[in-house]
Amino acid sequence: MDFKDYIRVIPDFPQPGISFKDITTLLKNGEAYRSSINELKKMVEHLKIDVIAGPEARGFVVGAPLAYALGVGFTPIRKSGKLPYETIEVGYDLEYGKDKLAMHTDAIEKGQNVLIADDLLATGGTIATSVNLVRQLGGNVVGAAFMIELTELNGRDKLQGIDVFTLMHYE
Ligand code: PRP
Repeated sequence: MDFKDYIRVIPDFPQPGISFKDITTLLKNGEAYRSSINELKKMVEHLKIDVIAGPEARGFVVGAPLAYALGVGFTPIRKSGKLPYETIEVGYDLEYGKDKLAMHTDAIEKGQNVLIADDLLATGGTIATSVNLVRQLGGNVVGAAFMIELTELNGRDKLQGIDVFTLMHYE
């Protein structure tokens, strides 16, 4: 299956010059969604994953079903102010804007192997911040998995030493 057939590309959203890769057209197709998660599962199942961490909001749509398929836990990485318990927070720059990401202080046990999952790797700011949070909690980042990588933005450069797994590449 060519997963790109299910991605809708929208020029100049949410601002001029950004070519938005819309995954909702893949997600609404049961066969394409399940196949994409199964394909990611095949790519990462050799890793000894204890828990998957996924950044809000689209990271939940990839990370949670992948965790379910692998039979491991899932923990959310959320934007500031959303998590109810004690948190750690790290600020970051987005492809378009700034924000802070947070995790519960007990989201990960020290020494656990963590896979980070998201829909898309663009500048890598979100994932680098996620790696930072997981490491601050004592987690061992064993890889990062995405449906889509925008290669031109060189997000991988921010993930030196971390294995990156992606289903689709765009310039
Ligand atoms: C998007 C996307 C990734 C991130 C990628 O999320 O889902 O998480 O940006 O960009 P980066 O590699 O340049 O950091 P966004 O922050 O728009 O949040 P959303 O999933 O809640 O829409």
